[in-house]
Order: sequence, then C-alpha cells, then structure tokens
Amino acid sequence: EQRRTRYWVEAHKLAAKLYQHVLLQTDEGKEAKQYLEERGFDEETIKEFQLGFAPDSWDFLTSFLSKRNYNMDEMIEAGLLARRDFDGKPFDRFRGRIMFPIWDRKGQTVGFSGRVLGSGHPKYMNSPESDLFNKSQLLYAFNRARPSIRKKNEVILFEGYADVISAYRVGIGNGVASMGTALTDRQIKMLKRNADKAVLCFDFDDAGQNATYKNAEMLESAGMNVRVAKLEEGLDPDDYINRHGGKKFKEEVLEGSLTLMGFKFRYFRKGLNLQDEGDQIEYVEKMLSEVSKLNRAVERDHYIRQLAEEFNLSLDALKQELIQIYKRRK
Ligand code: GTP
Ligand code: MN
Ligand code: MN
Ligand code: MN
Ligand code: MN
Repeated sequence: EQRRTRYWVEAHKLAAKLYQHVLLQTDEGKEAKQYLEERGFDEETIKEFQLGFAPDSWDFLTSFLSKRNYNMDEMIEAGLLARRDFDGKPFDRFRGRIMFPIWDRKGQTVGFSGRVLGSGHPKYMNSPESDLFNKSQLLYAFNRARPSIRKKNEVILFEGYADVISAYRVGIGNGVASMGTALTDRQIKMLKRNADKAVLCFDFDDAGQNATYKNAEMLESAGMNVRVAKLEEGLDPDDYINRHGGKKFKEEVLEGSLTLMGFKFRYFRKGLNLQDEGDQIEYVEKMLSEVSKLNRAVERDHYIRQLAEEFNLSLDALKQELIQIYKRRK
C-alpha cells in the first residue's frame, strides 16, 4: 500500500514538473502566464509555488505517462487521469487549467487544484479524494508555512490559494488555506500544535463571513487565541494586496484585526435595521448572550459598556439581563 502511494506521488511530481514546463516554456502556456502576470504572480512566485498549466487537451498527460509506462488504471485511481464512460479509455482530468500543486506535510505533491483561465465553472477543480489526497487532513502551504508559524506563534488562515501566495509575496509567510471547506478537527490540531494565535482572513462576502464565524468558534473552543482581520467590503486578501499593497495590508488589515467578540459585534448586525426598535432589542439580546459566554469579568464589563453606550441603555438594565441569561441557562 505504501509502495502504491509512493508510485502515485512520483507521478504527481512528474506531472507538476510537466505542467510548469508548459506554463513557462511553451506557446500553449503563454496565455496562462500572461493571466498570472496580470494578477501579480511573477516567474519567481510561479516557481516558488510550482504553479503550472494543463493544456486544453484530452491526452496530453495521458500520452506522456503512457509513454513512460505508467499504469493507466493506477493513474486514474491516483486522480491524474479520468476514465471515458463508453470505452473505458483514460483521458486527462485537468484541461485548460492553471495548476496549483497541493503538498502534504512532507512537501510531497499529493494532488492538484486547477483554476480555469478567466471565468468558467467550476472555478477550481480538485483531485478526487483518495488514500493520497485527503482534503480533511490537508491545509494548503502548511509545509512551507510551518517554520514561520512556529516562529511567530501565529497562523493566518486564508480562504484561497491565491491569498496565501499574495501574502507570501509581500513577506507574510505564516499563511495557510483550508481546502474550500470548514476546518476539520484534524486541521485544527495541526494549527494548534504549532501556534497559540490564529488570525482569520477570509473574503469579505457573506460566505466568507459565515465561514469566519464558524471556524473562529471552533478554533477558540480548541483553546486558540482568535482574531479576525479587517478587510474592506467586497475584497479578498489577494485583491486587497494587489490594489493597496502589502504595507497597507499589514498595517490596516492584519494589525487592525478585531477580537472575536469585536467581530461578532459586526457580524450579528447583518440583516438587521438597528434604527428599528425590535431589531435593536434582538441584537442587544444576541450580543448579551455572546457576552455571557466570556470567562473574564473585565471582558464582560468592557462589552456591556460598549452596548450600553451605543444603544443608550442603562448599564444596570444590561447587567440585570445578563443575570437572567445565566439563570435561564442553569
Ligand atoms: P481567485 O478568483 O483565483 O482569486 O480565487 P479565490 O481564491 O479568491 O477563490 P474564492 O474566494 O472564490 O474561493 C476560495 C477557495 O474556495 C478557493 O481557493 C478554493 O479552495 C475553493 N473554491 C472556490 N471555487 C471552487 C470550486 O468551484 N470548486 C471547488 N472544489 N472549490 C472551490
Ligand atoms: Mn469567496
Ligand atoms: Mn469569490
Ligand atoms: Mn477569494
Ligand atoms: Mn481571489
């Protein structure tokens, strides 16, 4: 079994090399290279992250591997090739896509995520789940980021591969990304073992904010100190860095990060009209319930004061309400 995955890893390594060759050295890769350059990914970055391009062909990788006597059934199971329905013949799974190799902890390529050039669906296509490629156990770029994570005692969690790469380009080396899903226990353990602090830096859209809330709660329950980066409406970290530069990203987005409670104060406003009395009461109740979960009295005090001030409520009334919440919980 181990021999088998070694065989798959070897094929992945070869494929990654080949895809990079196409991107950097052939006419077929020109458009993709230009697209990446427009996005700010220069040749150095492309090499650093081993990015490549899978040409828009049904048999490019297939014939390459076949000529080298790779077993086609194995390559299909490894997820590099797919099988044609009507006659069972192998063909290239990834076609016309920018290839992001995905590494395991040891830095071995265990899968790919392929992005369409420009727009199209699906935007990203992943290797299929297998003994080798197990998304729930992988974090993008973890192997590369780990020394920096340990040194800073902090990990930055992004949503996308492009975010990790752009951050790296501006000197932020402790970034990783989940594989497009919520964090699993296994991934949380990987993070927790290497750092006490986590900064969540997800896209500023509904999906990203919902994922932030969910992941932040899980990381905090696992005992990590969680903060949430402060992005502008609509932008993801990669967009932000390209538009405003790395310096501003560090100073405003990362250093301006919110505590988890600070984030919740914003997050739970979504969909409410705080000019409306009913919505206002609903919001204050929700926030009090969050405040009640805090362990330290000084923290609770801080946020109750904040609520009292913003909504012009008496501190006494809020404290009374908090006591009611504790009673109800018992
Ligand atoms: P760019 O448009 O290249 O900047 O990508 P992005 O990283 O900003 O992607 P987006 O914010 O749309 O999605 C974040 C992450 O979710 C990606 O990095 C992928 O891991 C995952 N993802 C996005 N779209 C798809 C998809 O169509 N299929 C799958 N399987 N995953 C996706
Ligand atoms: Mn998104
Ligand atoms: Mn998006
Ligand atoms: Mn994004
Ligand atoms: Mn993006």
